[in-house]
Amino acid sequence: MNHPSEPPREAGRPLSHLDRSVAQIRSELGIDPVSVDGIRDPRIYALEQEKIFRRTWLKVATTSELPETGDYKVKELPVVDTSLLVVRGKDGKVRAFHNVCTHRGNKVVPNADFETLGRARAGVVTCRFHGWVFGTDGPLRSVPLEEAFGTLDKACLGLREINCEVWQGFVFVNLAEEPEQTLADYLGDFGTLFAGYPYEEASTIFRYSTVLECNWKVALYAFSEGYHVPTIHAGSLPGFRGIEHADFKLIGPHASSTIYGAGMDTAASTAQFAGVLHASEHHGPRPDLLPPGINPTRRPDFQFELPNIFPNFIIHLASGCGYPGMAYFTHQFWPLDHGRTLWEGINYFRPARTAAERVAQFHVNALHRNAWLEDTATMEDSFVGIRSGAIDSMQLMDQEFLIRHAMRVQQSYLAA
Ligand code: FES
Ligand SMILES: [Fe+2]
Repeated sequence: MNHPSEPPREAGRPLSHLDRSVAQIRSELGIDPVSVDGIRDPRIYALEQEKIFRRTWLKVATTSELPETGDYKVKELPVVDTSLLVVRGKDGKVRAFHNVCTHRGNKVVPNADFETLGRARAGVVTCRFHGWVFGTDGPLRSVPLEEAFGTLDKACLGLREINCEVWQGFVFVNLAEEPEQTLADYLGDFGTLFAGYPYEEASTIFRYSTVLECNWKVALYAFSEGYHVPTIHAGSLPGFRGIEHADFKLIGPHASSTIYGAGMDTAASTAQFAGVLHASEHHGPRPDLLPPGINPTRRPDFQFELPNIFPNFIIHLASGCGYPGMAYFTHQFWPLDHGRTLWEGINYFRPARTAAERVAQFHVNALHRNAWLEDTATMEDSFVGIRSGAIDSMQLMDQEFLIRHAMRVQQSYLAA
């Protein structure tokens, strides 16, 4: 899908032409207040399930979570009414299946939480109900007491595969029988613009999640702007010296912006721990690794880029700037129903090489966790407020343009 106002891309042309000024985004997205109906009205949820989450490409894993043959991830996706099994087969390929046994529908691999990582020994997974055995590439391999079934067409009883593709180490699935677009086409110029960063090198992962009593879009919007930083984060990020949203990008259903800023004052303990990473050649800021279209003039006050992949995935591409040593972090917002959301926040670092680096990563990670606690604390209150009927619209400023854009794209999907 191309943005209606997007000129066709010329071969070899740099992608920096996709940057827009405030005046351009105002003219393309408008400046009027936006209705809260899409958040408030519970009837929209069933439509979102069908027309957004069953049609679009959804990020469900990273390849670094599945480094070896047989490594798997069980991922619960209530929004599309299934449990997913993402697994690396003997051929090295990552595939996704419904985690559903073709005997009587039990989960083949049980899960302990919304996601569970594990390793299938000998390249097979075995349903614990009656012991049917499936290859990690999908086929049904063996059935206990097979002769007692009379006939059993094992060739047709493999795990039900789901469309699965990888972009830059991020594993996406599409629940449609036949997706309207490949993942590459879905991401389009956006995928090109953000390709090339060594995402997979940052394989040390700290994951936080919580279930929030709010609509998924309230959570998405709260993490889609920097306007809130000086106020809600006054506790965890004191002495913040201002931020600037710039280089606005609207590319098909996706959007992004660059966040520049002068950083913040840090406590002495933080400065000491973070200094271990900041001074390291391995962990220190590497803005030179950013794709050329991001911070194209290499401004020294670059903090991070905020690519927002429709419908529910945000990357904060920091390249070690901002939070020392952290290459990037991601947020994802999984609807559980209209008024409940699973939020996942994940910090990605390059692997520590010494104990001191490891401790410093824990410290930076905890600092960031505190900021996220401040973020998530607003979401349930905002949802209560919106549901109360006291306001019919939200007032959005320039730094909140990702919200305006996401709402517009949601509406176009729901209307399709
Ligand atoms: S439901 Fe899986 S073996 Fe019976
Ligand atoms: Fe925040």
